[in-house]
Amino acid sequence: MNDLHRAEMADQELADAMDKLVIVKSTIYTSGECDPREPPPRQDTTGRLHLMGHDPRLPQLPNKPTLFDFFKLRFGPAIHMLQSARLAQKNGCDEKVILACLLHDCSAAGFIRADHGYWAAQLIAPYVDEEVAFAVRYHQVLRFYPDESFGYKYPDSYIRLFGPDYKPEPYLDRAYEHCRNHKWYCTARLLTVNDLYSFDPNVHVELEEFTDIVGRNFRQPPEGLGFDDSPSAHMWRTINWPTRYL
Ligand SMILES: [Fe+2]
Ligand SMILES: [Fe+2]
Repeated sequence: MNDLHRAEMADQELADAMDKLVIVKSTIYTSGECDPREPPPRQDTTGRLHLMGHDPRLPQLPNKPTLFDFFKLRFGPAIHMLQSARLAQKNGCDEKVILACLLHDCSAAGFIRADHGYWAAQLIAPYVDEEVAFAVRYHQVLRFYPDESFGYKYPDSYIRLFGPDYKPEPYLDRAYEHCRNHKWYCTARLLTVNDLYSFDPNVHVELEEFTDIVGRNFRQPPEGLGFDDSPSAHMWRTINWPTRYL
């Protein structure tokens, strides 16, 4: 069988699987494009079952997925996080900061963009040192607030992206104050300093460069992420199987 034939067979298998399934989108996927108050579009469900497991359109994760499986099979291009971790390493940061850099945008890459620092912190909290989750949570906030003593100024890219008149909401001011006075402020600030926005498309970084740091600092559950009953296991499951009906 040649490659073309194999690809055609795979397409046919996918089409057959899709014919047997009803797959709906969660409101959060479409809110804005659609009015969330409106009923979802009707589908002909005759003779079909509602999806309750793996989505056949996605690459399948192993039964006991690891953090790296999620990086490779569910997160969008992770080069920004990898380069950030590499930079932190080059700058002599400790392993907590390097790990925080490696994970900081995992929510934007594979889950939800809005409030991504908060979502990412919750995703990783059961598996990392509290200080790492703290830094990831507050990088969301600190990006908006300069600190000259760390050489961190308000990003030019934010002026371009959000306009010169954008002001953080009051809840961000409060979160900033809390972080500024916290014993782990430096950790969170070091993450923002190494969180480069203008990353170099020519610098290639392999995920495997961080195997040892992740091995020492990320408690990979033996049951696999999503199947370990941690407080965020359901979030990993949702990333794994995002279109289940329930
Ligand atoms: Fe971020
Ligand atoms: Fe980032």
